Amino acid sequence: MGGLSSEREVSLASGKAIQKALLEKGYHAVSIDVGKDVAEKIHDSRIEAAFIALHGKYGEDGAIQGVLEVMGIPYTGSGILASALGMNKTVSKLIFRSQGLIVGPYDVIYEGKRDRVSGVLDQISFPAVIKPHAEGSSVGVSLILKKEDVEPAVELAFEYGSEILIEKFIQGKEVQVGILGDRALGAIEIVSKRAFYDYTAKYEKGMSDHFFPARISDAVYKRTLEAGLVAHQAIGCRGYSRVDFIIDESDTAYILEVNTLPGMTATSLLPEIAKGVGIPFPDLVEEILRLALGC
Ligand SMILES: Nc1ncnc2c1ncn2[C@@H]1O[C@H](COP(=O)(O)OP(=O)(O)O)[C@@H](O)[C@H]1O
Ligand SMILES: [Mg+2]
Repeated sequence: MGGLSSEREVSLASGKAIQKALLEKGYHAVSIDVGKDVAEKIHDSRIEAAFIALHGKYGEDGAIQGVLEVMGIPYTGSGILASALGMNKTVSKLIFRSQGLIVGPYDVIYEGKRDRVSGVLDQISFPAVIKPHAEGSSVGVSLILKKEDVEPAVELAFEYGSEILIEKFIQGKEVQVGILGDRALGAIEIVSKRAFYDYTAKYEKGMSDHFFPARISDAVYKRTLEAGLVAHQAIGCRGYSRVDFIIDESDTAYILEVNTLPGMTATSLLPEIAKGVGIPFPDLVEEILRLALGC
């Protein structure tokens, strides 16, 4: 838990909740705050398996998974490649498309090609979303309503890497699908009190409302669960994930991303979905661990 990414605080919260659940279930669970000396710490702790509670860079992108592979320690969730693909919004969109999932209009701007931004926005038109290609928790994501919003949003997004995405803002219901094992558990709907589901809406109490199950027709619900599972499998995820969609007024479900290491506090979205289908948080945690150990 913890780690070196912009999502460190969230990760500490996930990690503490997971450790508490594991202790409750009778496991001997120690926490490791991940820094550059992580290999040494893992070695010294003599763990038999790792429950990864990291989010973002080095934790969700295949890096820590690589360390654990080298050390021969089984770990929860997706492997190196799926983690790397899931973290990279540019590459994952190509894979989603190849599997027939619906991706909204978007373009990629590379550092050094910033002069393309206004041309791309002419095509996509306002409102638009500008985001880094490999962050999470809405870090660096901006909603663009007018010309004056563009420059600061581009600056901000480039702070997180050498390529950024410009997407059409999809107006609709934000719906997220929880996957456990090879099953789509359910879909939860988020209504943000902010302009979009930004960092504040995600983590400040009372800044968003959750509805489980999502308030969509049975047919759309079923289709969205299927699309979630297709996305999970297309990226090659293992164990669990959470897949984000926006469903517009014509019931088209646009995929935003697959989160290979979704938030795991007792009140995070995947745990809320699991609870909604009768899986309490400690059971969810144990199941994720079992899936990693193949037992
Ligand atoms: N194309 C889009 N249309 C509408 N809302 C979007 C779009 N892209 C992002 N958002 C909003 O921004 C939030 C974060 O974007 P997302 O791509 O999921 O990045 P992150 O990895 O930071 O969660 C989403 O949950 C949604 O509220
Ligand atoms: Mg997201």
